[in-house]
Amino acid sequence: MTYQQQYQASITNPEGFWREQGKRIQWFRDPETILSKDENGIDRWFADGELNTAYLALDYHVLQGRGDQLALIYDSPVTESRRSYTYAELTAAVAKFAGVLKAQGVEKGDRVVVYMPMVPEAAIAMLACARLGAIHSVVFGGFAAHELAVRIDDAEPKVIVSASCGIEINRIIDYKPILDAAIEMATHKPGCSVILQRDISRCAMGQNDIDWQEAQLAAEPADCTPVLATDPLYVLYTSGTTGKPKGVVRDNGGHAVAMKYSMDVVYDMEPGDVFWAASDVGWVVGHSYIVYAPLLAGCTTVFYEGKPVRTPDAGAFWRVCEEYGVKGLFAAPTAFRAIRKEDPDCNLAKKYDLSKLKTIFMAGERLDPPTYEWVVEHIQRPVVDHWWQTETGWAIAGNHVGLEPVAVKAGSVTRPSPGYNVQILDSRGNPVARNEQGSIAIKLPLPPGCLPTIWGNHDRFVAGYLATFDGYYITGDGGYLDDDNYLFVLGRTDDIINVAGHRLSTGEMEEVVAGHAAVAECAVIGQSSDLKGEEPLGLVLLKDGFDVDEEQLQKELVQRVRDQIGAVASFKSAIVVKRLPKTRSGKILRKILRNIANGEEYVAPSTIDDPACLEEIQDILKLKGICK
Ligand code: COA
Ligand code: AMP
Repeated sequence: MTYQQQYQASITNPEGFWREQGKRIQWFRDPETILSKDENGIDRWFADGELNTAYLALDYHVLQGRGDQLALIYDSPVTESRRSYTYAELTAAVAKFAGVLKAQGVEKGDRVVVYMPMVPEAAIAMLACARLGAIHSVVFGGFAAHELAVRIDDAEPKVIVSASCGIEINRIIDYKPILDAAIEMATHKPGCSVILQRDISRCAMGQNDIDWQEAQLAAEPADCTPVLATDPLYVLYTSGTTGKPKGVVRDNGGHAVAMKYSMDVVYDMEPGDVFWAASDVGWVVGHSYIVYAPLLAGCTTVFYEGKPVRTPDAGAFWRVCEEYGVKGLFAAPTAFRAIRKEDPDCNLAKKYDLSKLKTIFMAGERLDPPTYEWVVEHIQRPVVDHWWQTETGWAIAGNHVGLEPVAVKAGSVTRPSPGYNVQILDSRGNPVARNEQGSIAIKLPLPPGCLPTIWGNHDRFVAGYLATFDGYYITGDGGYLDDDNYLFVLGRTDDIINVAGHRLSTGEMEEVVAGHAAVAECAVIGQSSDLKGEEPLGLVLLKDGFDVDEEQLQKELVQRVRDQIGAVASFKSAIVVKRLPKTRSGKILRKILRNIANGEEYVAPSTIDDPACLEEIQDILKLKGICK
């Protein structure tokens, strides 16, 4: 089938289209109902089907005779170690760890928070939860104790799985004190924490802590628990516009079908192929394309604990690609910008045999044309920019190399994926003409794999995504479709920024900055960065009567954000201003502030209460060297 045929079939007859795709996984009980509404009136896929995601990702392949094939390769330049698991070995390890969790009372529907560095045990913990029908919630290691505590209180886990430490290039990050502080802060207290002791830095164990290795020795392997397609597989918290992160819920059935479909159509991967998503299990890319999709598709996944640069050099990506025969490499554009900065002529790539590498995929943030061109020029492989989000779990749009790749247009994420009825809407919710900009929306139903709700807060799901325009899911991104139906994503229309491919909420940073005793009000905006795409910049208004040393204040604010959100926020600049531009109704005009900070043209809206403050801010930012 051509792209056009598949796309049309998926839009005109979604039920028929996904019924066929659903046949490609091994259900415990085949679904008869393909598309139906749940008790909240939300479209759900395969509602009466029964399956187990860990079974499909592991046991199934062993039963098919592929037990000796490599399932997971762990490569860790930061600890100078490598390890690999065949499908049979990974199945056994996951069954064992499921036994550990079961012994701690974890059952179907219980939550387990996983706060781990990029070690295979993170995937083992996730898959062990899936095996039991429990719901994992992985928290990215770069988040501070407060962020972890917020997630613990929202997910209410029975057990937490963590490790003694992570390693950032050559710096040891002790996880245990962060975990202890988070549990101390949280209202909800988990029954116990299972801790993986890493030799590089072991930790003292507390009363409620269980040693991973010891528990494993005593555990009985646990079987796969059948779950309904609509039962949650995981909750993954992502930044929203307010301080409280949103727990994106992923189901089992739709997810498994979508993951398998995407491995074919989006990534062109077959059983036995080696796929490497150079991300982290703490992000959606890690969930979908380090753990679930490659394993569901019977591929070998590379689990990399390191950076694209400095571990040990900017040739790390190419070394890994050669060593394991990577066919598909997926990373955020920022990773390639980092490589380019250190190795502008890409000389290090020439040292390696990249003959197995077929395609490079990028997502997570805008792919700037110079980075795209640099990779194409030096690596001489197709580069696919594809666009999606935590909420959807897989590509809303891309250049479908496994279906019908087409010519690339600079700045475009190519075409909507089958299943996604992408529409560009104006402010009233009416579709706009071709080439006209608007809000990128998806006409319901969303395809399998997309979120059906926000954990514990369905109203927030409706208010944040469905209530704006009847019958549509709004993505939060703006953009347009051109005459050839190529989609151009122009950026977020809300207060979310993407820093080094990490999704962060400026609203959350504002809450933390505003909590400082000297701060009356502040605005945090995204400023363009050559390396990280965007970086946060805080503009701060002091309380009357506070006379502070600005350098000292900046230090304190940077530390506050680091302590409360985490180093990953990359919050490094806070500038004191005398006034903030507002509408007459008191709303801060953040868009104009963004324009000023990025040296872009702007037009002051008629509703502004004090136009003179714009020039004043521009002068301050110029003086500080923040903008030209
Ligand atoms: N645990 C603890 N700290 C972490 C962390 C983790 N898992 N991940 C990042 N951090 C820390 C970093 O050490 C850094 O700390 P510092 O301010 O003390 O130096 C801070 O958080 C910011 O990290 P980052 O923005 O990643 O900057 P960096 O300089 O460490 O690395 C890149 C820059 C471009 C190499 C890196 O961001 C990268 O590889 N990005 C790819 C992004 C990605 O995979 N995104 C997922 C979506 S596809
Ligand atoms: P996350 O949920 O962390 O995957 O972040 C999702 C957001 O990242 C999207 O809503 C976009 O704003 C941005 N994004 C992801 N992929 C792309 C891309 N290929 N091009 C432009 N923006 C992207």
